[in-house]
Order: sequence, then C-alpha cells, then structure tokens
Amino acid sequence: MDEKKGNFLMDKITSLAKRRGFIFPGSEIYGGLAGTWDYGPLGVELKNNIKKEYWRFMVYERNDTVGLDAAIMMNPKVWEASGHTAAFTDPLVECKTCHVRMREDHLEEIKAHEESHKNKKEKTEWSEPKKFNLLVEAKLGVVEGEKTIIYLRGEITQGVHVNFKNVLDSTSRKLPFGIVQIGKAFRNEITPANLTFRSREFEQMELQYYVRPDEKESHEWLEYWKEERKKWYLFLGMNGENLRFRRHKSDERAHYARDAWDIEYKSSFGWKEMEGIHHRGDWDLKQHAKTSGENLAYFDESSKERFIPWVIETSGGVDRAALFFLLDSYREDGKRVFLKLSPRLAPVKAAVFPLSANKEDLVQKAKEVYKNLKSEFPVAWDDRGNVGKRYYAQDEIGTPWCVTIDYQTLEDGTATIRNRDTAEQERADIKNLSVLLRKRVAKNSLV
Ligand code: GAP
Repeated sequence: MDEKKGNFLMDKITSLAKRRGFIFPGSEIYGGLAGTWDYGPLGVELKNNIKKEYWRFMVYERNDTVGLDAAIMMNPKVWEASGHTAAFTDPLVECKTCHVRMREDHLEEIKAHEESHKNKKEKTEWSEPKKFNLLVEAKLGVVEGEKTIIYLRGEITQGVHVNFKNVLDSTSRKLPFGIVQIGKAFRNEITPANLTFRSREFEQMELQYYVRPDEKESHEWLEYWKEERKKWYLFLGMNGENLRFRRHKSDERAHYARDAWDIEYKSSFGWKEMEGIHHRGDWDLKQHAKTSGENLAYFDESSKERFIPWVIETSGGVDRAALFFLLDSYREDGKRVFLKLSPRLAPVKAAVFPLSANKEDLVQKAKEVYKNLKSEFPVAWDDRGNVGKRYYAQDEIGTPWCVTIDYQTLEDGTATIRNRDTAEQERADIKNLSVLLRKRVAKNSLV
C-alpha cells in the first residue's frame, strides 16, 4: 500500500474508532496523556472477545497449559534478576536544534524530523546515542521519605517465571507444559505512535512454555508455536497475505533471547510486529534462582535428572491485535463502509429493528426478539430513521446480522436476517433465532 493511501486508512480507522466508541484518547478532556488510550463501549467488547478467544485457544482447548494472573506490582529485585533494570533500554539521540529525543533505530521518524527542519531551511544535528530505560517507576508506601521505588511491569512475563515453582507444586505438571497469562504492561516509550500500536500502557497475552533443555527439541517447539499462533490469527479472520514471519538478527534480539521471530502484520504504515515468538532458554529461571536463592530446578522422574527447563515464549499485544483486526476488516463498498470482523470478534453480534417505529405491534414483537437474543450475547436495538440507515450504522461497527421484524413476522413468525458482508437477506423462524445465531458464532461464519 502506498504511503498516502496507508495514512488515509489509519485516519479513517482513527476517526471511526472515536466516532463509534471503539477507542478514545486517554484523559482527553484534560488535553490527553500521550501514549494512553481508553476503550469505549465497542472497543471493550472487541478487546474482551480477543482475550476470550486467546484463552479458549491457549488454555481451554489444550491439555498442556494452565492460566495465571500475577500482580502488576512486584518486588524490584525481580527486575534486577530479569535484566530489565540494566538492559531494557532504547538507544536515543537528541536533536541539537529543538532537543527532541528520538529512537536512533526508528529511521522513518528520524527522516521525517530532519525533513521538518529542512522545510524551515534548518540543519539537523544529532547527539551521540544514549541508553534510556523503558521501565516505568512508581513509589509505594505510606510514609513520605520511606517510600520504595518499584516498577510497573515492563512485560507480563516475569510474574509467570517467579510462580514457576508454585504452579509446578500445585498442579503436578510434567514437562513440556505452559503457563498462559493476559495483563497490562507499561513502558516509557519514547515515541508512542499510530493510535494504540505503540502505547505506554498496553495489554499483553503470553504463553511461557517450559521444555527440556535440548537444542533440537526446543527448536521444534519454537516452530510448533510459530505455526499455532499464526493459525489463531487466521481462524479469527485475518487475511493470510497480511501475515509473515520475520527472524530477528542477532544484534536486534532482546537480552534474554537465544532466537526470536516476529509475526508481522502488513499494516497501512508498513510491516509491523504483532507478536513475538522467543526462545528464552534458561535465562529467566536461572536468574531468579540465582537472585532469590530458591531452587527452581525441575525434577524429571523418568530420568531422575534435575535441571532448569528452557522456555519458548509467545508474546502478543492485545491492543495491537485489536488495531490490526480493525485495519484488516475495514471495507468500502460504494458509500457503504463495513468492518468484516469475524462473528467471534464482532462487538455486537446482532441488531434488531422493528420495520416501523410507530407500529405498536411490530415494536412489541421486535422487543421480545431483542430481549431473547440479548440473554445470549450483545445485541443492539435501533428504531430510528429508515432500515437502510440502520443497516449502514451496524455495518460500520461490524455487526454480522441485522434482524428486521416486519408484517410477515406477525403472520408467520419469521423475520428477515441480513448478512453484513453480502447484504443478502434470508427469512428465519424467530423461535430458532438464538440457536441459529449461536451456532453461526461458534462456527465463526456468517451463514
Ligand atoms: N515478554 C516478551 C515481550 O514483552 P516484546 O516483543 O517486547 O516481548 C511483545 O512485546 C508484544 O507486546 C509485541 O509483539 C506487541 O504486540 C506488544 N507490545 C510491545 N510493546 C508495545 C507497546 N508499546 N504498545 C503496544 N503493544 C506493545
């Protein structure tokens, strides 16, 4: 996609997200807080659906994983052990003219900045790069002067590794097995950008998969998890042509990674990281064992060996996934704009309309149908304007089905169901409606 078209699409998504209640700028009435976003009534449904689908795929449908929800605030020693206080840094350069600081490796942003000075007939001179730590600090305690500096977690990962022994002891798991977690992470990002793509507060969904410390076996698991994670995005309707794997070069890998791959999405602002699949080796458990003094080794009963397992990690961003699902599903068909979201992700599953708002018997029947469907999933009610306008309003937020109660409903108990993607209509018995739509949501299909 060329740059202009790409920016145009981001503008459209940003405007739709705000106008329809998906994503609002954080603290907007106070002028905002850069890099923070609030999810509106539709956004929270989309995000919850993503998390629900993640949990289903990564925990419920498997026998080798369990879930966990660790605290955001952790003992600061955790971050020393994990290497984040020393190595969780970005290289920053400062513009000597206007003192703006930028990531040295964000070449497009550097170029744009130089261009802006050039337009004012100014030259740009950059300082030598300096390291900047991304951990967000907070102070904890009740006595002023005796407060402890803690860090808001920079990744959700460490909460899992410090609980490795607790999970092992409480579940009697055998290798290989994984711990899944979803939760907030915080980073002092230098240049938050592209709506929620790079935020300072965001949510991650991760698996830490513990395997035997074996080169061949661990790489087989890495390959396995790359494919599993890609499968998940495809199942939820992402266009396969917009996905690719990219291997990190050795000098771009995080301090903990022996090998690292990204699942990248072809966004309107270029191929971008959506999820990382990392071979973390024994880095985390070894570091925590050393720093805490706890024995975090695993005892293998069959071989009678004791060892520190290796970890294969899959780490995705919930907000990034939500943004890319929105970009991927955006369609224009003449004047009609619709989000081709999979039924499982759609924030509202169906909308119910009486054909006419001033015919009491139609309204009453439509309300009955609405109430019945609403006990199953989020359903919208609309009796404003004409039916065409109501369709357009639902298309724009990705509602898969619109159900219209008309005069025929009063005669034979059937209603029209309109398909968002094809705009085709069918008639179905209102008694079977909730079963029919529930089946289609489960199948993840509009028909
Ligand atoms: N535990 C490994 C880890 O945190 P990462 O590559 O730094 O690895 C994993 O982050 C995922 O978290 C990314 O692929 C992205 O989806 C999401 N993510 C990271 N930083 C983010 C940010 N500033 N804003 C939104 N999402 C972010």
